Amino acid sequence: MCGIVGYAGAGSAKAMILSGLRSLEYRGYDSAGIALVRKGKLLVRKESGKLDALESKVGAADFDAQLGIGHTRWATHGAPTRENAHPHTSVDGRIAIVHNGIIENFMQLKQELITKHGIRFQSETDSEVIAHLIGVHYRGDLVGALRAAAKRMHGAYAVAVVCADEPDQIVAIRKDAPLVAGICEEGGLLASDIPALLKYTRDVYLIENDEIVIVTKGAVQIFDEEMTRMNRTKTHIDWDAQAAEKGGYEHFMIKEINEEPMGVRETLRHRLDANGELLLDDLEFTKEELDAIDRIYIVACGTASHAGLVGKPVIEKYARIPVEVDLSSEFRYRNPIVTERTLVICISQSGETSDTLEALREAKRRGAKILSIVNVVGSSVARASDHVFYTWAGPEIAVASTKAYTTQIVSLYLIALHMGRLRGTVKEAESKKLVGELLEAPDLIAKVIKDEKRIMELAKAHYKKEKIFFVGRGSDVATAQEASLKLKEITYINSFAIAAGELKHGTIALITRDVLFFAVATQNYLYEKMLSNIEEMKARQAQVVAVAKKGDKRISQAADDTFFFPDCSDEVAPIVAIIFFQMFAYHVAKLRGRNIDQPRNLAKSVTVE
Ligand code: F6R
Repeated sequence: MCGIVGYAGAGSAKAMILSGLRSLEYRGYDSAGIALVRKGKLLVRKESGKLDALESKVGAADFDAQLGIGHTRWATHGAPTRENAHPHTSVDGRIAIVHNGIIENFMQLKQELITKHGIRFQSETDSEVIAHLIGVHYRGDLVGALRAAAKRMHGAYAVAVVCADEPDQIVAIRKDAPLVAGICEEGGLLASDIPALLKYTRDVYLIENDEIVIVTKGAVQIFDEEMTRMNRTKTHIDWDAQAAEKGGYEHFMIKEINEEPMGVRETLRHRLDANGELLLDDLEFTKEELDAIDRIYIVACGTASHAGLVGKPVIEKYARIPVEVDLSSEFRYRNPIVTERTLVICISQSGETSDTLEALREAKRRGAKILSIVNVVGSSVARASDHVFYTWAGPEIAVASTKAYTTQIVSLYLIALHMGRLRGTVKEAESKKLVGELLEAPDLIAKVIKDEKRIMELAKAHYKKEKIFFVGRGSDVATAQEASLKLKEITYINSFAIAAGELKHGTIALITRDVLFFAVATQNYLYEKMLSNIEEMKARQAQVVAVAKKGDKRISQAADDTFFFPDCSDEVAPIVAIIFFQMFAYHVAKLRGRNIDQPRNLAKSVTVE
């Protein structure tokens, strides 16, 4: 979503801010802006479109300073126009703000600012109210004015502010939107996301909710709500700045698919000892605690929720606790039955997804224990949870999630086994068997990736189709849903997924010659059923491509075409088969000339509702 960058130092603030904003481009944006403080004046430029447009407008040498803030905006309130771009300024043009998040009561605040203070608004955004609120509270103390404004704001925000009368500092505050700061040789830095700082420092301060941060040339000072100075230790970021770049691949998405064997291997390596024994004691569950749990909710959005669907039967099988999978945006509003005996497993790659964070808080309020599966270390979901299981996918940059998905499934499997072992519902031999199969998964994934030529062949044969649907049974329903999501988000082809047994209850009416069906057939125990579904579709003239285990002659005879993936157990199959669908979507998108890493209307993490 939106990105914030701030710089206070001795160098060129313009250059530092633009470089920081560039490293956040992957998050998606549709306008950008910058505000600099120079010789007692505030210089502001903003443009709709990409950073190049802004860069060409701020090219002149006199448009520079040693302190400033910048922003890339992904439109929520108001179109992606120059007026709606950040920074927004106070009426006297001496204070500028950038904001990520949402001000829920902005209509009420706006009305008040208009009637009480006669303010004329320049944009349609919720964020502009922040600039005016700070403006009306400003009496020569920027921190005080920001605190007073924040008291009036409801919602989620990371806000950075500069003022022409206070040329040495950037002041910022956060509530439910990420904010980090750091110090390097070049000066003090502030950003909404760690990648913006990585070029300059690996040691960052994670700002907590309701904290105020003051960034100057030589210091980052953090204060709580009452302005008590906080003694925060820095968090060291392991990822290489290179890891956030494409590393020779044409797109981040294909790079990240190629990293899936490594992501799965690393996730396993951190959770298994040399003998394949589980290392999950840091989750600090006791047998008594687990025995007291009578229900598990898996709560997540999008791809992460599909990982939950794959994990559900596996947790039920090994831990023998009933599991429900719920979308975060539904769970948070539907008055779920949650008690002290409920465990909520939140899954989130970014750890910043607003709906998931709010669902988590709702569950916590009702007394549930929270276990989260998160990829981004120190993210809001991780910090709000009782127990955290980190996936080791590494930074995921492409908007379409790939490597996070497979590592999330592996994490759920390990959690299922850990719970089962503690509760005594899974035998050692059974646990060892699944661990052994999982350890083979990286090689099986690599085999599918190697089959790229065949995948490209299928992409070439079908990339012009306007309707592509996916069917499956058991955990193949989740695979079908994830395959369909990947395809529609990066190719824009009309697609949906359905449980194969549901076809005859209505959807079968959609079958025509020009519709392509993918039949996911990875589950041995449902094999005969899936075969008859394929025959059912073929009898109505559908085109069917099956995705099945190597050597499956019956399926390949029934379908028009088949993609074979390496033979593996039913449980490992969802991790292996999805690789084909991710790559198929990728190649179709490429043939269609789509913006693969940043599809239209989408952003990497959805930090607003
Ligand atoms: C799809 C995709 C999204 C995310 C969803 C949740 O490719 O990336 O569906 O999975 O927005 O995001 P996280 O996992 O960051 O909570």
